[in-house]
Amino acid sequence: MAYDNIEVTRDGAVATIQLDRPKALNALNVAMMSELATALAKLEADDTVGCVILTGHDKAFAAGADIKEMMEDEYLDLYKNDRFEQFHMATERFRKPIIAAVSGYALGGGCELAMMCDIIIAADTAKFGQPEINLGVMPGMGGTQRLLRAVGKSKAMDLCLTGRMMDAAEAERAGLVSRIVPLDKLMETAKEAAAKIASQSQPIAMMTKETINAGFEMSLEQGIRLERRTFMSMFTTHDQKEGMAAFAEKRKPHFKNR
Ligand code: CAA
Repeated sequence: MAYDNIEVTRDGAVATIQLDRPKALNALNVAMMSELATALAKLEADDTVGCVILTGHDKAFAAGADIKEMMEDEYLDLYKNDRFEQFHMATERFRKPIIAAVSGYALGGGCELAMMCDIIIAADTAKFGQPEINLGVMPGMGGTQRLLRAVGKSKAMDLCLTGRMMDAAEAERAGLVSRIVPLDKLMETAKEAAAKIASQSQPIAMMTKETINAGFEMSLEQGIRLERRTFMSMFTTHDQKEGMAAFAEKRKPHFKNR
């Protein structure tokens, strides 16, 4: 399917979605958010896809929600469309691992979109921020909540209240980003990580993602109980038998995703 605001490519079991409105620094307009939701639903349904990379362009991963598109909106326009909610649900519901490969600006909704992904790999040029306060609003796609959980209260307050940007090194120190690489190695690194993830047992990777994400919503005791039960349930799968047999026989496992 052809899209106007994103590009979807495939390399084996890895799918890459590139946000593609470079002249607007990949500002997230309604059309792009809707295309992204559609693309994710298709990739979710495609069993041959094991991992997804979400990326932008060198200058911007995404510079936020499209300010010009929403500037005249009233409360009821936003309430009735609820564009952020639909988009948020599509990303949130996506059950396969998704890596954000970020270079340049990841601001406002762009930072929030990166945080909806499971792993953020950043180029050394990346800049993260929640500058909405400069526009007379605050983050509206999960920024106050996800940033708080990712970097703690003091830095989340600092970023959301001053509107300043943090560079890749600060983002890595704060725990927002898993790795920093030179810009020219960004996609290579993201693809290597994605291919490694896609080579694992898909249902096991999905259950691992689900269990880690559930930890944001529950107590430590509940989370550990969920982990234990999910771990036990993996012993009903072919891939657990195969993975452990391959280790004992000193060979590579051949996972069948079941
Ligand atoms: N919405 C709409 N258009 C945007 C945009 C955005 N978020 N960010 C950049 N653009 C457009 C600019 O208007 C400009 O378009 P024109 O050429 O037609 O004038 C083009 O992209 C290039 O941008 P700049 O000329 O501003 O580029 P720069 O290099 O001088 O500055 C920047 C880069 C610092 C990222 C600056 O563009 C900027 O501050 N952008 C806005 C960042 C922002 O406030 N994001 C939050 C948006 S609100 C939000 O996201 C709410 C939410 O939580 C859901």
